[in-house]
Formats: sequence, structure tokens, C-alpha cells
Amino acid sequence: MQGKVRILIGITGGIAAYKVPQLIRLLKKNGAEVKAVCTPCALRFVGDETLRTVSGHPLYRDDVSFHDIEHIRLAEWTDLFIICPATANTIAKIAHGIADNLLTTLALSVPPEKMAVAPAMNTVMWENRVTKENIAALEKRGVTVLPVGEGELACSASGPGRMLEVEEIVDFVMSRLPAEGALSGKRVLISSGPTEEPIDPVRVISNRSSGKMGAALARAALMQGAKVTVVSGPARAALPPGARIIKVRTAGQMRDAMRKEFRSADICIMAAAVSDFKPAQTRASKIRRDGGGKISLALEANPDILAELGKRKGNKFLVGFALETSAGNEQAERKMNDKKCDMMIVNRAGESLDRDSTKITILDAGGSAEPFPAMDKTQAGELIMQRIAARL
Ligand code: CTP
Repeated sequence: MQGKVRILIGITGGIAAYKVPQLIRLLKKNGAEVKAVCTPCALRFVGDETLRTVSGHPLYRDDVSFHDIEHIRLAEWTDLFIICPATANTIAKIAHGIADNLLTTLALSVPPEKMAVAPAMNTVMWENRVTKENIAALEKRGVTVLPVGEGELACSASGPGRMLEVEEIVDFVMSRLPAEGALSGKRVLISSGPTEEPIDPVRVISNRSSGKMGAALARAALMQGAKVTVVSGPARAALPPGARIIKVRTAGQMRDAMRKEFRSADICIMAAAVSDFKPAQTRASKIRRDGGGKISLALEANPDILAELGKRKGNKFLVGFALETSAGNEQAERKMNDKKCDMMIVNRAGESLDRDSTKITILDAGGSAEPFPAMDKTQAGELIMQRIAARL
């Protein structure tokens, strides 16, 4: 991947500015690097310290002296400059080329096709003809204007004018970027996390998978321009909001969802740690300690989802994960062939399960085996998606 997507958020003085730290956090979770610039009024609604902490960068503002040409550097740095919330006042200024603060100066320096605004104002201002004309002027110039939401406004009135929800803004940003990734136009299906097989109403059979690897793969695929669907078991790791997420619990539910989604996928990565066994029967009520002694639980095998998908593979690109506790790649190679995968990612339980880092070897059905040193799962996700893209 050619580095992270770089987003510059312009914050103006509207109440919705308080949502921006959350927006920055979500964009970063999706793999973006984010910087923020604000107008003097914005600081009445959101804290400088918060913005610096969540973005991991200085906050660009007028009353702090930056180098004279800072706005040019920032304009060149960013892949997308999104002004949110964008007040009627700032929209009016940028529609007319007024550059009276750092943010509006930036708006004159960033090409319109790299700019977006998420308006936020009360309904009367939103519906005012002047605002409509200013919005139309921005659109005509090539600036993307996001729709407004409808609902309760800060002034207690209700109507159109609310800033879109942060998740909707993230979806917009992710759908815009990058226009030309190595996987643009491809549909990537990923299974992630553990599955859970109920024993009784309170107990389950599961495993220690955190879902971090699946989340990292989803993020990497999104950043390379793919359309991503994740079928996820009950995992702790947060999935990128830019992906379509289907939540499941049991291996049976995961199998149904994967089989259905597989039909329209180009690439399928089975990163989930599927429970191989489930209780032969689920008790309707809690198992009691009454007996005092031992209890035994009859287990039966779950379907092998990857092997089933392998049988329907056609010309889709199919990737499996082999979680091993022993050294050597023989078991993983066997699994790759048996399950008809194009690629198998080998990792060892002790070096990967429930950790932030992993040490993988990429096996290719062509016969190659490429070992890598331990790395962060985010990096591993990027590396795997790169290798897949190179094989298509
Ligand atoms: N897998 C699956 N369905 C299962 C078990 C595993 O789809 N019921 C998939 C996993 O998601 C992984 C691959 O098969 O991509 C290999 O999983 P792994 O647990 O390493 O191996 P198993 O095939 O289960 O064999 P074993 O547990 O005997 O090592």
C-alpha cells in the first residue's frame, strides 16, 4: 500500500464540532492519517487538547504561529479536505473565495475535487436562498456537498440542517478514497473472529480469537479500494465502519452467511477461528452442579466452511488461515490443497492468538513459502492484501 490515506478535517463553529474527535477516531481506525484545522469559533465547541490527542498531530489554528506557507504544505499533504461541521458563514466565505482565516485560506489552496463539506446549521439558515446559492456555487466548482440530516437541532426546533452522523461521514470518506487502489472494483469477503457454540443458556464453546486479524484485513482491503463484507463472530476488535458487517454467533450461522455472500465475492479470506466442534445438543436450561462429580459433554463436528467454499470456488481467489501449534508448513500445505485455496497464511497459536502482533508465512498454491518476521497485525493485513492484489 502506498502509505495511509491523509484526511484534513476543517472544523468551523457549529455545535456539531463536538462530534469531530469521534470522527477522527473512526477515520484512524479505518487506517487514515488525520490532521485537523479549525476556525477561531470552532474552539468554543471542541477542545484543542482533545483534537491534538485523538489526531496525534498539532491542531492547525490561527492564533498559533505556523510557518507562512503552512497552508500550502497542508493543502499538498491532504488527499481529502473535509469541512465538518461547515457553518453557513464558512460556506458563504468559501463560495466567494474569502480567505480570512487559516481554514478558509486552505479552502482556496486545495483543488475543489479534493474538497467536501458537511453542512450543519438550523433549518431556516439551511433553507435560505443565499445558502442554497452558495451551496450550488460550491457544487458547480466540483466541491462535494454532503447531505444534511433531519431531526432535532441545537435550537430545539426540528427539521433539515443537522450534520450527518459521524459513521455516515466515515462511509462517505471511505467510498471516496482511494479512487484507484489496487483492489478497486473488487468485492472482498472476509470471515473474522471466533464462533460460539452454546452448551446451555449461559455457557459456550469458543476460542481466544480476538478478530484483530480480520479487522486489519478489512481495513487494508478498504484502503486499496475494495468493497468489503465481513462476516464476524463475537469478536472484541472493532471493525472498520466502511465495511458491510454481518454478525453471527455459531459456525452454522457463519457457514450460511459465507455461502450466501461467497456468490458475489471476487476474493474470499477465511480468517475466522471456527469452532471445529459443537455440543451434540444444547441444553434448554442451565446445567447444575447438583451431581457434584464429573459431567461429560458429547460433541459433534461443525461443517468445514472453507472446504465447502473451495468446492464452489470457480475463478474466485480463496485464502485460508492455518493456525498451527507445531513448527513446519506441512499441515498448512495439506490444508491448502484439501480446501482448494490459492493462498494459505500460516501462523502459530503462541505467536498470534489474542495478540496485537503475528508472525506469518504466506504459502502459495504455486508452491512458494514466504516467511516474515513478527509484525503488527495492521501491517500483516496490508502485506497479505498486497500479495493477494499482486496475484490477481
Ligand atoms: N475452517 C473452516 N471451518 C471449520 C474449521 C476451519 O472454514 N470448521 C477454516 C479456517 O477459517 C481456516 C482454515 O479452515 O481458514 C484452517 O483452519 P485450522 O483451524 O487451521 O484447521 P482445521 O482445518 O480446523 O484443522 P485442524 O483444526 O485439525 O488443524
